Amino acid sequence: MRAVTWHGRADVRVDTVPDPAIQDPTDVVVEVTSSGICGSDLHLIEVMAPFMSVGDVMGHEPMGVVREVGRDVTAVRPGDRVVVPFNISCGTCWMCSQGLQSQCETTQNREQGYGASLFGYTKLYGQVPGGQAEYLRVPFGNTLPVTVPDGLPDDRFVYLSDVLPTAWQAVQYAATPPGGTLLVLGLGPIGDMCTRIAHHLGIEHVWASDVVPERIARAVGRGTDVIRSTDQAQVVGEIREATAGRGPDAVIDAVGMEAHGSPVAAIAQKASAIVPDAIMEKVMQVAGVDRLAALNTAIEAVRRGGTISLSGVYGGASDPMPLNKMFDKQIQLRMGQANVWRWVPDILPILTEGDPLGVDDFATHRVPLEQAPQAYADFREKKDGAVKVLLQP
Ligand SMILES: NC(=O)c1ccc[n+]([C@@H]2O[C@H](COP(=O)([O-])OP(=O)(O)OC[C@H]3O[C@@H](n4cnc5c(N)ncnc54)[C@H](O)[C@@H]3O)[C@@H](O)[C@H]2O)c1
Ligand SMILES: [Zn+2]
Ligand SMILES: [Zn+2]
Repeated sequence: MRAVTWHGRADVRVDTVPDPAIQDPTDVVVEVTSSGICGSDLHLIEVMAPFMSVGDVMGHEPMGVVREVGRDVTAVRPGDRVVVPFNISCGTCWMCSQGLQSQCETTQNREQGYGASLFGYTKLYGQVPGGQAEYLRVPFGNTLPVTVPDGLPDDRFVYLSDVLPTAWQAVQYAATPPGGTLLVLGLGPIGDMCTRIAHHLGIEHVWASDVVPERIARAVGRGTDVIRSTDQAQVVGEIREATAGRGPDAVIDAVGMEAHGSPVAAIAQKASAIVPDAIMEKVMQVAGVDRLAALNTAIEAVRRGGTISLSGVYGGASDPMPLNKMFDKQIQLRMGQANVWRWVPDILPILTEGDPLGVDDFATHRVPLEQAPQAYADFREKKDGAVKVLLQP
């Protein structure tokens, strides 16, 4: 089959790789019909490169049609339409039963000291072949795939794999009080979806910050107040002015480790590109640093006693954090990979009763799998208006 594979920094290609097959009696094989490219994929082709291997199949936002099922699979049948969550979670362990599917105890990567395996990710998360491919092997066929109805386009459901539960969790973790103000940093697909969900859930004052014109336009078009800057002083100044000088009740960081405005860490991340990966892997595990500009803006901006919700991914082992300020401001901090199945029962009904979140036209680009390298480049460089790209194998 054809699949998007990792070849090095900023280098993904479409290769022919072996077709996946049923290995365990509860596996299913899904023929992929749509598969998103995510901001997390951009980390994998840049900062997280030391943890990738040539030939790794990318992608963790797929949906498609079940083609084959193992002998113990009873929950889905060939022909069923399914979305595949990006967490590989068993659905039955203690963590899964707590709604913490990103910490699944059946797939936790204990040797690496990391949580549940993820499709199409680094060796920290199991190095499991991903879903930017024609076919995908999905374990836990009785509990992991999300069955969705026929008759509506893929766009309606595909974001259940990641964008929707990630943004939903970010908004829930932010816990904006009634009448309160939420500030979302970053208007990529995740930040954009956070603002949409925030409006849908009735949060009164929804603000965001970014500098990319077409991303700003999408948010403004749906009633969000946007600060057209990523400069900390400016963002903090404007949001304080809008909140009686206090700052917002909650801030979502939907940016993560590659934020604009962190010059020292940016140099450190770039320098790592010339160090052999075996050495860099060790260095990052003990001394890696992220670009913390967005997180620092969140800490500065949030009101005293407010909440910061991190959905942007950080990977540094020794990031300097202003704990004095965090302690003094009594900041509440919540974060993590999204627990996809935790939120599916809340989100799925919204998708079948119309389209209040605007998912049908959320994608800016739908392209054949073969065009993935160009699509990655456009998304990464924010060219050609690329906000959300769906690959269609
Ligand atoms: N927690 C999870 O489960 C989960 C799931 C999916 C994605 N993510 C993470 O969410 C983050 C966003 O993903 P995305 O797909 O929207 O990516 P993206 O890269 O398209 O979006 C990031 C946006 O942040 C903006 N930005 C950069 N620096 C900023 C700053 N200092 N202040 C404000 N905005 C700034 C950029 O202009 C860009 O529009 C990534 O870190 C990704 O890894 C997390
Ligand atoms: Zn993703
Ligand atoms: Zn589990």
